[in-house]
Amino acid sequence: MTRAKLPETGEAWETLSARMREMGARDVKWRDGRAAVYVFNAGEDVERVQKEAYAMYAAENGLGPAAFPSLRQMEADVVAFGLSLLNASEGAAGNMTSGGTDSILMAVKAARDHARARGASGKLNIVLPRSAHPAFDKAAMVMELEVRRTPLKDYLADPVAIDAATDEKTIMIVGSAPCFPYGLIDPIAALSDLALRRDLWLHVDACVGGYIAPFVRMNGADLPVFDFAAPGVSSMSADLHKYGYCSKGASTVFFRSEELRARMIFEVRDWPAGKMVTPTLAGTRPGGAISAAWAVMNFLGVAGYRAKHGEVTAAREAVEAGVRARGFEVIGAPKLGIVSFAHAGHDANALLRKMYERGWVTSAISEPKGLHLMLSPVHRGVVDRYLDDLDWAMANAGDARGAAAPRYAG
Ligand SMILES: Cc1ncc(COP(=O)(O)O)c(C=O)c1O
Repeated sequence: MTRAKLPETGEAWETLSARMREMGARDVKWRDGRAAVYVFNAGEDVERVQKEAYAMYAAENGLGPAAFPSLRQMEADVVAFGLSLLNASEGAAGNMTSGGTDSILMAVKAARDHARARGASGKLNIVLPRSAHPAFDKAAMVMELEVRRTPLKDYLADPVAIDAATDEKTIMIVGSAPCFPYGLIDPIAALSDLALRRDLWLHVDACVGGYIAPFVRMNGADLPVFDFAAPGVSSMSADLHKYGYCSKGASTVFFRSEELRARMIFEVRDWPAGKMVTPTLAGTRPGGAISAAWAVMNFLGVAGYRAKHGEVTAAREAVEAGVRARGFEVIGAPKLGIVSFAHAGHDANALLRKMYERGWVTSAISEPKGLHLMLSPVHRGVVDRYLDDLDWAMANAGDARGAAAPRYAG
């Protein structure tokens, strides 16, 4: 491939913006609801707020809160909104980060430093259910921790298996609310009991659920305890750029106390340009990600989130009914926006490939082999179309049987 050359002279923005639009022509038609992964589409009203609010602070830098008290205030507000939604009591604290991976990495770092401050040394480990996100493996890789994955029970974290896998070198146990593969909320109350009994740091990964589950509960769903209401939860991750419908590059990481949050902070004093203190992994933090999050949350408010998430629930229920009618088994009892389903008589990868031919970009699971949707409000209006295309895929997938699943990432 020839390497692109920086043009000698610049081009007019009108030309460039036209070229950029053209470049996007072959991208998945997510605005039409064809993507059920990567993009959370809450509609044009939210998209407009995201863009305009991002642009207002696109040049500002969250690295300098003294220079930008605006961003400091917006981050403080966003963190406060999240803490309240997740039932954190007075004294809990948190920060905005660039995404779920960043939030998880910082929580693991805080847990590790907390354990070290209490005398832990040598090869430390984290214990997590098989369904927890690979971001924990990434954190463990960076910090040279051992990862102990435990088997699931009915697709959920098994507290007994987690208990058995821990030892005096364990710095963290994990539950998801929900996990990505199945969209199911782990038994956080039982994990919390375990954490209290064994004096362990429990992290709840609510990257997907943190900004949908509270509102789905307000809408009347019977959800198990999954947040700081469980007394053994030490930290949580909750992504604004997922079901918070904020611009990308925005997540939150929360701690039960300021003392625990302090373990996350990075500080170097001995450096020619003075001291450097950052709360999270990033140095420069895009002001736009902070301002867009603040704007979207205030734009939607509780009523707006309840309405948008009500549409997600309606879409999920319609998908569940539709796929069951076609002979699929829905994995577990999902209550939020992710649903996975498998069919004994159909190869999931072959179906996925056929659906891709019809413009659908969605995910798959491998245990068992099945299809996976992460639904947004926009999907409520396209469920019938999805199911029609699924009928077509089931009728025509024979030629794709045995094919590898399409790869969108990496
Ligand atoms: C449960 C869960 N945790 C963490 C992450 C990582 O988030 P990010 O992609 O924002 O780094 C994801 C991403 O899908 C997720 O589903």
